[in-house]
Amino acid sequence: MKIIVLRLFALLLLPIAALQAGEIAVSSLDLSLAANSSGWPARANLSTSGKPILLGGKVFPNGLGSHTKFRLLIDCHGTAKRFTAKVGVDDVANKQYASVIFRIEGDGKKLLMSPVMRPGDDPLPVDVDLTGIKQLVLLAWNGEGGGQADDHANWADATIIFDGKAPATLASAEPRKILTPPTPPTPRINGPVVIGTRPGNPFLFYVPVTGERPLKVTVGGLPKGLSLDESSGIITGTTLAAGTYDVKLTATNARGSATRELRIVAGDTLALTPPMGWNSWNCFASKVTRDDILRQANSMATNGLRDHGYAYINIDDFWMPKNEDIDPTLHGPERDANGRINSNARFPDMPGLTASIHKLGLKAGIYSSPGPKTCGGCISSWRHEKQDAERFAEWGFDYLKYDWCSYNQVVSGNYEDKAYAKKPYMVMGEHLRHQKRDIVYSLCQYGMAKVWEWGDEVGGNTWRTTHDIGDSWDSMSKIGFSQAGHEPFVKPGCWNDPDMMIAGWVWGRFTNLSDDEQYTHVSLWSLLSAPLLLGCDLTHVDDFTLNLLGNDEVIEVNQDPLGRMAGRIATRGETQVWAKAMSDGSLAVGLFNLGDEAVPVSTTWNELKLKGPQRVRDLWRQQDIGVQEDGFTTHIPRHGCVLIRVSSSK
Ligand code: GLA
Repeated sequence: MKIIVLRLFALLLLPIAALQAGEIAVSSLDLSLAANSSGWPARANLSTSGKPILLGGKVFPNGLGSHTKFRLLIDCHGTAKRFTAKVGVDDVANKQYASVIFRIEGDGKKLLMSPVMRPGDDPLPVDVDLTGIKQLVLLAWNGEGGGQADDHANWADATIIFDGKAPATLASAEPRKILTPPTPPTPRINGPVVIGTRPGNPFLFYVPVTGERPLKVTVGGLPKGLSLDESSGIITGTTLAAGTYDVKLTATNARGSATRELRIVAGDTLALTPPMGWNSWNCFASKVTRDDILRQANSMATNGLRDHGYAYINIDDFWMPKNEDIDPTLHGPERDANGRINSNARFPDMPGLTASIHKLGLKAGIYSSPGPKTCGGCISSWRHEKQDAERFAEWGFDYLKYDWCSYNQVVSGNYEDKAYAKKPYMVMGEHLRHQKRDIVYSLCQYGMAKVWEWGDEVGGNTWRTTHDIGDSWDSMSKIGFSQAGHEPFVKPGCWNDPDMMIAGWVWGRFTNLSDDEQYTHVSLWSLLSAPLLLGCDLTHVDDFTLNLLGNDEVIEVNQDPLGRMAGRIATRGETQVWAKAMSDGSLAVGLFNLGDEAVPVSTTWNELKLKGPQRVRDLWRQQDIGVQEDGFTTHIPRHGCVLIRVSSSK
């Protein structure tokens, strides 16, 4: 009897335990304000899967269920005393994949970081002092290996204990880190300052200008054969003779006017600055359709990104037939009676599609493989290279991504043998060069046989240096920071490609990269002179992403006509300094913090081989920092960066 009474008493106590005076159960806060990249919701008093919170064999009726990558900001107003909880990965999560690191920050500093936790582990008791803390942040990160899958991160009995009464408002939406000031209403001409074209081929260039509308663009000194359509701001025509043409662009609106030189080089080299645009893979992958492509092109034209210089709209894999797939929209005759490749039912009219893209002043890209099948198993160019190059040109494409994939199934060889690796790219490169169309040639073979050393010889304009990128810090930072040493092979027309961008809304959700990680991504890709091919859904661009991708001073680093790639200047602990020589004699310098804690990051003029005091400008904030005598030091958050431009103060 005594035992039964005690049990009943304990049961009655359970839910009340978290609600003592001055205590707030975290599960009672507005959890919809949490940032959660996985698509799995944060839940009150249940695990993210909707089942009871189960840790180390024990059910916890109170607490918070989350999923990596999770971040909840709580305003404690400096009046909280302690945060207590028992954290762990839900017992029902898959043991093979699930792993979580729990982290607690107070006013930007680490208060606690758990070891990597897995399902079945005993819950880790947490008791953190919050004295004086204004903002408490609860984070759940993916532990090592296994990706994000099944990372059901539980915060059982999560409670904040206050000194006296708890404040009325607690949970806050995370403020996004928008660094760049709004685009000014006065005109600014953006995008490349030099464009390559082959004489006699069709030319298309939309003059990217930001500023209040209506806005008028005029062009002085256009070579014979080219003309500007003033209503659309698009230059079209044909440069008849080889040569260098310096054209003067002017943009005028009610607030003022801007001028800029544009150099058109009619010769043999395309992509004189890294291609900027969008590619369908990181957004639609195998599901892409013509309507998706049109919507993306229209969005690029209307959301402002076209006016920052983004120009290519590239279709990746899955535009061509794959008859063995269960999806009937992928079906159709692979080639016509003459052997010319067909598109699948999702892309009924390729010339119509490219015409719509061109009408917006944008350019169109397509994808194929030198093997019989693309990576996704669609028909591709093996033994039809000439016909396919002709078909792509006839259809009106301006860019080809040529992806190795099944080539080794029909021609065997050693991946590190240059002659073997070069062969199929040489074949397609030759055919592309003979088309009466400028087709930028993008090699995709993941860096085999040191492609950067010979990509140029096969006519490549860009070459992937690595395997596919994923939207995690691990993937992006490993790829980005491993590019050091490839500098000698980069020049106008020849660019290393560390893969497409994974900022913004990718694969149907917000990227797993934090705001700081996204600044690192765009800064690094700009310093590396990498193609800026956006992977995000352009119909779903939030203010942060637009601000991130549309900073013209950062894009200027990427598009600098000198065409150098940044090199790594220094590694100190978990910090790195990279620098890129710019055409005006200045240096673009990236200071990066790869570590988990905020730290000061420094560079000296000495290590950058600069003499005397230097003027420093913060490019993300578009602010002058002033003249610095010997170097520059700044505080950088975890995985963040500061991008500066350093020029002589004389
Ligand atoms: C490879 C490439 C990706 C993408 C897919 C398409 O994995 O590296 O960029 O093109 O193929 O199947």
